[in-house]
Amino acid sequence: CGIVGYVGYREAYPIIIKGLKRLEYRGYDSAGAMIYDGESLKHSKTKGKVTDLESRASAEISLNGSIGMGHTRWATHGVPNDVNSHPHFSNSGEISIIHNGIIENYEPLKKELINRGYTFTSDTDTEVLVNLIEEVQRKENLKIGKAVQVALNQVVGAYAICVFDKKYPDQMVVARLGSPLAIGIGKDEFFVASDASPFIEYTSNAIYLEDEEMAIIRKDKPVKVRKIKDDTLVDPYVQELQMNLEQIEKGGYDHFMLKEIYEQPNVIKDTYRGRLHANEGIIQMAGVEDNLEKFTNAERILIVACGTSWHAGLVAEYIFEEFTRIPVEVEYASEFRYRNPIINKGDVLIAISQSGETADTLAAIKLAKEKGAFVFGVCNVVGSSISRESHAGAYTHAGPEIGVASTKAFTTQITVLTMIALRLAKAKGTLSNSDFHRYLQELEVIPEKVADALLTNDVSKEIAAKFKDAPNCLYLGRGYNFPVALEGALKLKEISYIHAEGYPAAEMKHGPIALIDESMPVVVIAPKQGHYDKVVSNIQEIKSRNGKIIAIVTKGDIQVRGLADFVIEVPDTTEALTPLLTTIPLQLLSYHIAVMRGCNVDQPRNLAKSVTVE
Ligand code: G6P
Repeated sequence: CGIVGYVGYREAYPIIIKGLKRLEYRGYDSAGAMIYDGESLKHSKTKGKVTDLESRASAEISLNGSIGMGHTRWATHGVPNDVNSHPHFSNSGEISIIHNGIIENYEPLKKELINRGYTFTSDTDTEVLVNLIEEVQRKENLKIGKAVQVALNQVVGAYAICVFDKKYPDQMVVARLGSPLAIGIGKDEFFVASDASPFIEYTSNAIYLEDEEMAIIRKDKPVKVRKIKDDTLVDPYVQELQMNLEQIEKGGYDHFMLKEIYEQPNVIKDTYRGRLHANEGIIQMAGVEDNLEKFTNAERILIVACGTSWHAGLVAEYIFEEFTRIPVEVEYASEFRYRNPIINKGDVLIAISQSGETADTLAAIKLAKEKGAFVFGVCNVVGSSISRESHAGAYTHAGPEIGVASTKAFTTQITVLTMIALRLAKAKGTLSNSDFHRYLQELEVIPEKVADALLTNDVSKEIAAKFKDAPNCLYLGRGYNFPVALEGALKLKEISYIHAEGYPAAEMKHGPIALIDESMPVVVIAPKQGHYDKVVSNIQEIKSRNGKIIAIVTKGDIQVRGLADFVIEVPDTTEALTPLLTTIPLQLLSYHIAVMRGCNVDQPRNLAKSVTVE
């Protein structure tokens, strides 16, 4: 979910609406806002998107309040409907709250409150929290800040919250545990948001609350940050933001996803800038250099991640094992954390996360830390929870990724992971000098080759038109390109709702081949480098069952061209780097299919960009 708050002198409503639109990538099942106009709390909430809220709120919300809050939801407890949308109100109607996260012990708390006479209008855990705050306040006669603190100490779960009490009309109380919360600091005004994008045009100074911290925000006073548990005052670190407005706007593209696909040549360069010096044969990243021994002595590398980041982890498995000969295991963070995994002191755990906020990945690294592993984070969002919770790390520097379907985060994650593997190979002597130099040279020119691969946009679009109505699609690849097949299938299902599956090409005959007939498109990733002949045999197997073959091949390929129904050519590169190129047409193919099917590309149904609940 995304939350926004404003305390200051401007009209709060437009700031909140605009902020919510920027945060919609975090969830968009329903939306709501509350404005205090000096007399009453006016609110509006609805199932649907922020634009649905807008058309409704103008009649319901007063425009002359300069304190307020808004929320865009990704449903956890309770279906997305008007009632379950945020803000929620206490029984007296005086306290309102917006909440991102989950209150795990909401049931016993709710029972207790019902015994005390409280009633509930929604199914949400959030309504329990706001009434708990009210009950604590009433019983102990506390100011709102204190009441929030006492209530939070009774709560188990995760939250970023923003609370307003009509009895204290000049202030807002915010707190975080597990879900991100930034406070933008302007002159006589403050902003609250899940990330800095809602307030970037007003201020470039922000405080990111740490877990178990809360703050009281008043218009004309400095922000005071405290520990929720023991009330100690914390000296907050005011960070200067690097994000700019242009980065979070579409810049002439129809969708963020397309913009982000096209940004890849530049952001891959940003990823290796200052780290890779091919001519000098140098590759270095501070987080790796400082911990080189931990890496080189590692008996095993564990990689944990979710979604697309997990696919980047799978690509990295091939790269690490090939370059460094260190055994690698790649795990879904959600499975890893709940299966009593074997984690040894000599293990290095790499957590990959675009947002740096994915709850399961965060929990997995906490577990690994407890068991003594060295934890290295590969995140995109600077200052995110995973980046702070890791012992060391390397940012991907891809800039804000807003489209829910991840694109540039994936390729920059692979870039960072490749660089780490190369650095370790150098330290361990597991690559020959000439191979090491060749990889460095190849990596350096990859951005131009990615730009070249983007020229496949038109052919991808033509192929998309042919297959946009297919009910199913199969993606096949081998070796380094098996994870690319998985990622290609994920992209398609995420944004076009076509059922798609990725498989190692040779596994096709153990199941998916049964699905193949003349109406089944099969995307085969078949670059010249890497088991080419084997893939060609797989293509023949598909062809003899009349499947429709769309092949991703190396420029100049003749053999597959002769067999496939459609081919998309990408530049040649060394085998380990092919995923950075073969991925590009798959992103474009999914994008065009989704657009042609009339789907909401940037905000696919039921998904959220940053999943801060487990
Ligand atoms: C969500 C997003 C995916 C993303 C995954 C992991 O499911 O929709 O695009 O790959 O979370 O997110 P992370 O931020 O940890 O990379």
